[in-house]
Amino acid sequence: MTSFWTGMLTAAAVIAAIAAGSGYWLQRRISADIVTPVMETNPDGTAGKALMVYQPGLSDFQAKVTAAFGEGLAEAGWRVFTTTASEQAPSELAGYDVVVLGAPVYGGAPGKPLSRYIERVADFDDKPVVVLLTAGSDAGPAIGLTEQAVVKSRGRPVASLGLTTNRPNDVANEFTGSNAERAVEIARRAGRTLQLAPH
Ligand SMILES: Cc1cc2nc3c(=O)[nH]c(=O)nc-3n(C[C@H](O)[C@H](O)[C@H](O)COP(=O)(O)O)c2cc1C
Repeated sequence: MTSFWTGMLTAAAVIAAIAAGSGYWLQRRISADIVTPVMETNPDGTAGKALMVYQPGLSDFQAKVTAAFGEGLAEAGWRVFTTTASEQAPSELAGYDVVVLGAPVYGGAPGKPLSRYIERVADFDDKPVVVLLTAGSDAGPAIGLTEQAVVKSRGRPVASLGLTTNRPNDVANEFTGSNAERAVEIARRAGRTLQLAPH
């Protein structure tokens, strides 16, 4: 083999190794639990207690959307408890009136830490559940999968919202700013106007 082809093969092998390593790192990163304390906002709220459990993404989009939804809940009088999906997140839900589950969509499905959290809860005891997913272009199929997992664990999906980075969120043009800024405002309004359907 000429030194040219030896060099080409070596370069190809190095590129393949870097690609495989990056893919492995990405899968590990998006599948890993992130532990944070439970943060309470609006402790004097009288509308009820909301637990928000979410998986942060690689970007800050999911965190911003989740925070805005929580701010909307607080504006509507809810006490809001927020944490990230991990083994440390509360799985005993008896003290909460609604549970909000958030995650980015990866490969058409909700992020694995959120799916593991739903399995860990195992029995939502007919608790109302809000699903709040972020995606590049289409959260629909992942919302369906999340709702199915919630129902399997005896939860009651009452509202679901998918917000995207690439597809326009605010088709009715009700807000101003970038697509991501509009997504944040849509999430805030959804929290503020949340209605729990009666049994
Ligand atoms: C590994 C990977 C897989 C993804 N798969 C999808 C997908 O199947 N459908 C989709 O609409 N967006 C997909 N996205 C985009 C994310 O859902 C989107 O960026 C989300 O708003 C925030 O996640 P991020 O902060 O981790 O980027 C994917 C992103 C990554 C990094």
